[in-house]
Amino acid sequence: MNSIIDLRSDTVSKPGEGMRRAMASAEVGDDVFGDDPTVNLLEERAAALVGKEAAMFVPSGTMANLIAVMTHTRAGDEILLGDQCHIFNYEVAGAARLAGVQSHALKNTEDGALDLADVEAAIREPNIHAPRNPLLCLENTHNRCGGAALEVSTMDGLAELAHRHGMQVHLDGARLFNAAAALEVPAARLARECDTVSFCLSKGLGCPVGSLVCGPADFIREARRNRKMLGGGMRQVGILAAAGLYAFEHNIARLADDHANARLLAAGLAELGVFEPNVPQTNIVVANVRRGSLEQWIGAFREQGVLAVPFGRGRMRMVTHLNITREDIEEALRRVRRAVEAVAV
Ligand SMILES: Cc1ncc(COP(=O)(O)O)c(C=O)c1O
Repeated sequence: MNSIIDLRSDTVSKPGEGMRRAMASAEVGDDVFGDDPTVNLLEERAAALVGKEAAMFVPSGTMANLIAVMTHTRAGDEILLGDQCHIFNYEVAGAARLAGVQSHALKNTEDGALDLADVEAAIREPNIHAPRNPLLCLENTHNRCGGAALEVSTMDGLAELAHRHGMQVHLDGARLFNAAAALEVPAARLARECDTVSFCLSKGLGCPVGSLVCGPADFIREARRNRKMLGGGMRQVGILAAAGLYAFEHNIARLADDHANARLLAAGLAELGVFEPNVPQTNIVVANVRRGSLEQWIGAFREQGVLAVPFGRGRMRMVTHLNITREDIEEALRRVRRAVEAVAV
């Protein structure tokens, strides 16, 4: 049992003994020269897992998305994306500053998708006054939409529309394997109609660092230039890639446990009458606070040893992950109940 039950994010998970052993014994080389056998193997397996030709290891999900945007576009282009998506809200406007593109944010539907009619209406006619629209960005699972898993039909429909208009599609699949587990479809099928996809090792898969950008071989070749430009070319990074290979073997199949724990947590929170949680499809619980201030609740939880994060006005987020057991969730609910009794609003 954990003394502090840290539900702020799945990024707080720590590598266990098996992963650390794999890292310590990794064969390495200089990856900027393409010489690191462990990175090469990770990239090969990652591409296969999401059904793409090639993949590239990068330090973070943010850099993965930025490189994808940069490689798909030219400065002065306009990308279409959801107003709740990570690229638009949490990546420090890197697409604007570093890729030089304008973002046209369309209202996300509650389930993390975009309305086909909205996307169609946003695509600009070719005109010397207008920016080009080479790229549509999607996110699956959708973080701000409570870890919603977008169905194959939704993904395919949006990609088909984009392709019909000559656009490419990038999928921010930071938690793609959570979506695949929830929907019981292969990750490769979810990403099939997307031209490129990124996913993170450092979230549900439990690695300390790392993300992958996957797509056609010529795209990944160009993406390597952009990674170098951004300072993301790393050297004996097989030590980190080994964690990813370990996670592919051990940490994908168990993601459904995190989803069951998130459902248990949400159901327990709902019973208290103070919080309005989503019914989580994956590992993210987002709860509106009905009474009292958000800061007060986050503080009251912390005093009981349960960590959550503010997630927009009057909303908090809690995320389950591989260091959180069912017993931890039961204990977290006992502590949250004590917090509610202590605050007594
Ligand atoms: C949907 C999504 N995309 C991208 C990222 C960025 O990942 P990183 O924190 O590794 O930069 C996150 C991080 O939480 C995320 O939730």
